[in-house]
Amino acid sequence: MANKKIDSETGVETVGHEWDGIEELNNPLPRWWLLTFYACILFAIGYVIVYPAIPMLTKGTEGLWGWSSRGSLAAETAKAEASRKTLLAQLTATPIEQLAQNPELMRAAVSGGKAAFKVNCVQCHGSGAAGSTGYPNLNDDDWLYGGNLKEIEQTITHGIRQPGDDQTRPGALMPSFGRDGILTAAQIQDTVSFVRTLSGKEQASAGSARGAALYAANCVACHGPDGKGNRQLGAPNLTDAIWLYGDSRDAIAGSVTNAHAGVMPAWTTKLDTATIRMLAAYVHSLGGGEKFGLTPAPASAPTSAPTSAQAAAPAAAAPANAKP
Ligand code: HEC
Ligand code: HEC
Repeated sequence: MANKKIDSETGVETVGHEWDGIEELNNPLPRWWLLTFYACILFAIGYVIVYPAIPMLTKGTEGLWGWSSRGSLAAETAKAEASRKTLLAQLTATPIEQLAQNPELMRAAVSGGKAAFKVNCVQCHGSGAAGSTGYPNLNDDDWLYGGNLKEIEQTITHGIRQPGDDQTRPGALMPSFGRDGILTAAQIQDTVSFVRTLSGKEQASAGSARGAALYAANCVACHGPDGKGNRQLGAPNLTDAIWLYGDSRDAIAGSVTNAHAGVMPAWTTKLDTATIRMLAAYVHSLGGGEKFGLTPAPASAPTSAPTSAQAAAPAAAAPANAKP
């Protein structure tokens, strides 16, 4: 090069341009910078070869590895689907009595049940499963029909008083004492007084004493001599603070005048076994779940109601006596 200029200050060659007396030195690029630059070029070439990169007319280049974001989504989905299938198969194969022995499966069931509950059950039982008038709260330990996993599964599978399901919980039909003229309005008021003494909402009175006699004659068969209810019949406990239809005088008089017969749909026609099992696990986990073997002994059969307290004792003692 003919007009190679050397800067007199630094002794470095200049690029040969000059702006108002300022010249640019022709220093080489720093080595680290250059190496990084080459590395980037190599990386970019590799990337273009391996991954989809260059748009063509109908579709882009596919890359050596055949990766695509759509493909990776599909793979993830397939993986999730496969693990869900395994979970469902495992649940279907595990009788609900044995679920508790597999805590991991139980946990998966509870979370699956929570999702299924949101879809199928909230419209009646409420989003927190707290229920409302006529729709039981599933969070408490007060069960019409029983609160261990097996009983809950049975209730969900076949429903309560569900027409057309021959294994549905039959649920006794309480007579409509007022509407059908079995009791007079005054007698119903007395019965209400007595029922409210059972849970301590009212003090004993002349009315409740008359009511006690009416109760013994008309109600014991289903609600039991002490008012504790009967799970075989779905007759509620009248001695606790939990009421399906309300605990005011009016509400109780209403229940006695025009009896209720709540219907819970059977889910066996709409949901598979695994989903029902998940729902049972979820409902059981809400707080009132009972353990197997802890279900209170079924209350007396209706016909033996008055003597049930005595009858129950020997019956319970029998197995012990039978031991050699
Ligand atoms: C159409 C309204 C309705 C829907 C939907 C419904 N239930 Fe119920 N459920 C009821 C009623 C009403 C009762 C109480 C029946 C009675 O009075 O005996 C009940 C009772 C129950 C019981 C028995 C509670 C006890 O104390 O023994 C369980 C468990 C239960 N439901 C779970 C579910 C689950 C789980 C779902 C969702 C798959 C569901 N229910 C959906 C109306 C419904
Ligand atoms: C044939 C059995 C039967 C007889 C007899 C009977 N009941 Fe009932 N009772 C039931 C059942 C079952 C229910 C629950 C209905 C439901 O779940 O919808 C119920 C519900 C009630 C309720 C509502 C409880 C709540 O939690 O809101 C009251 C109150 C009640 N009965 C009082 C009486 C009184 C008082 C008598 C007697 C005068 C009586 N019952 C006789 C079966 C019976």
